[in-house]
Amino acid sequence: MEDWSHCLDVAVQIALRAGQVVQSAVKQEKQVSSKSTPTDLVTETDHQVEELIISTLREKYPTHRFIGEESSAAGVKCELTDDPTWIIDPIDGTCNFVHSFPMVAVSIGFAVRKEKISAPQLELGVIYHCFDGTLYTARKGHGAFCNGVRLQVSKEKDVSKALILTEIGAKRDPATLDIFLGNMKKLLSAPTHGVRIIGSSTLALCHIASGAAEAYYQYGLHCWDIAAAAVIIREAGGHVMDTTGGPLDLMSRRVVAAGTREIADCVVKQLQPINYGRDDTD
Ligand code: IPD
Repeated sequence: MEDWSHCLDVAVQIALRAGQVVQSAVKQEKQVSSKSTPTDLVTETDHQVEELIISTLREKYPTHRFIGEESSAAGVKCELTDDPTWIIDPIDGTCNFVHSFPMVAVSIGFAVRKEKISAPQLELGVIYHCFDGTLYTARKGHGAFCNGVRLQVSKEKDVSKALILTEIGAKRDPATLDIFLGNMKKLLSAPTHGVRIIGSSTLALCHIASGAAEAYYQYGLHCWDIAAAAVIIREAGGHVMDTTGGPLDLMSRRVVAAGTREIADCVVKQLQPINYGRDDTD
């Protein structure tokens, strides 16, 4: 079986470089445009950072494949094949980046097909918080770390003592917002300690890995928001799954993550689905 540890080292170096580009760009004037909806934002820095990450990785690993947020927005097919594949969000929290709201991350995940019979599996994840320099890393079977310190999810099983995180997603039509707010209302009145939205799916998921919150759920995120974080949460002892409670489907644009299976099951029971389609068919 191939040892992918060199890929983790490379991903860390690239995430740090990409983070420096984001850090200096945040002080400059930004050219902002929108993609799927008026609230789905992109800047020239998203493109620049994705290009930096993909070109550097391609030079090192010419046979590997790439899924990137901005390449996908530009029409490149988003699919996992038998080839080792990097899954990249150059700036997660672009809206935060536009406003200099300090929750912005670079996310790099990597999936490989371990055996001929299995589907590609998430192998490693690197998430770099560009504002405070926090670096989250994990490799399957080798633990998850924050700035080198081992991560451990919350062991809380009682949902009434849980802090829950979510993100809004790009759709803002009244029907979608009714379901979104209804889900939040159900979780607030479950009861739970509270529900928080920070504007970056990847950093919210890192808070599950570090035990700062008990659960995360979202409809409307993408595979590049989940890939790296899923490895980090699992290696910190947590659960990442579909919003139905079944196995995670990376391309399904929905996720529930939690420190314990008990809390995950309670969250799953409260959720009414929002259909965002799939990353691999849009
Ligand atoms: C988005 C952010 C946002 C979440 C979206 C993500 P982006 O990523 O994480 O908080 O609601 O679902 O796609 O567009 O800033 O990379």
